Amino acid sequence: MEEKGISQAVISRLPRYFRYLGELKDEGVERISSQELSEIMKVTASQIRQDFNNFGGFGQQGYGYNVEYLYTEIGKILGLDKKHHLVLIGAGNLGQAIANYMNFERRGFLISGIFDVNAALIGKKVRDIEVRPMEELEDFIREHDIDIGVLTIPKNAAVDVANRLVKCGIKAMWNFAHVDLNVPEDVLVENVHLSDSLMKLSYNINRYETSKE
Ligand code: NAI
Repeated sequence: MEEKGISQAVISRLPRYFRYLGELKDEGVERISSQELSEIMKVTASQIRQDFNNFGGFGQQGYGYNVEYLYTEIGKILGLDKKHHLVLIGAGNLGQAIANYMNFERRGFLISGIFDVNAALIGKKVRDIEVRPMEELEDFIREHDIDIGVLTIPKNAAVDVANRLVKCGIKAMWNFAHVDLNVPEDVLVENVHLSDSLMKLSYNINRYETSKE
């Protein structure tokens, strides 16, 4: 399947398609037209067709798309047909909330290890996963085929920890620390900032209120 040159905007819409298609599949829907999908998802049918055409169109024939096929193919594009093994660094409020959220596992993201510097947390279990000391980080990564590091630590610690992860070959980081990580080009970083999302909401509230005046 040709995926070269696909814009990040298209890629960023794929998880939403995947979620909706998963729900339709669970409801037993077998086929859906772009028009019907458009009504459910509140995006235009032409946007959906354009997005899907980036991946060869997913073989729409006769009446609509085959939901199961579309769900599986989008899942493959997102790499969800493979399992990913994660280490989570920072077992504080956010780290524990992420580790306790079971749904990531359903998507193939398995938290294999949790690490922290705080001696009071070492040996504690978060959903059956023991919190380990940072001294064990490198050996653990090598022994457990880890491909993603999750950073839920303060920003002043994140740069050093990211460098340690790079040195032991980690190729992807899910970064919640409020700092830009300076990692080699072949290391992928996905920054997540809930506050950015809130600020976007704030902007839209302002815009909505101004439009009523
Ligand atoms: P927290 O203080 O509850 O947890 C931080 C944990 O990191 C502590 O257990 C601490 O011992 C550990 N830690 C500190 N330095 C470490 C190091 N060098 N190696 C390993 N572990 C280390 O804080 P919370 O609320 O869980 O937040 C964690 C970080 O995530 C904060 O920096 C916060 O600013 C950020 N954050 C980001 C959000 C986002 O949307 N990106 C949302 C909420 C928090």
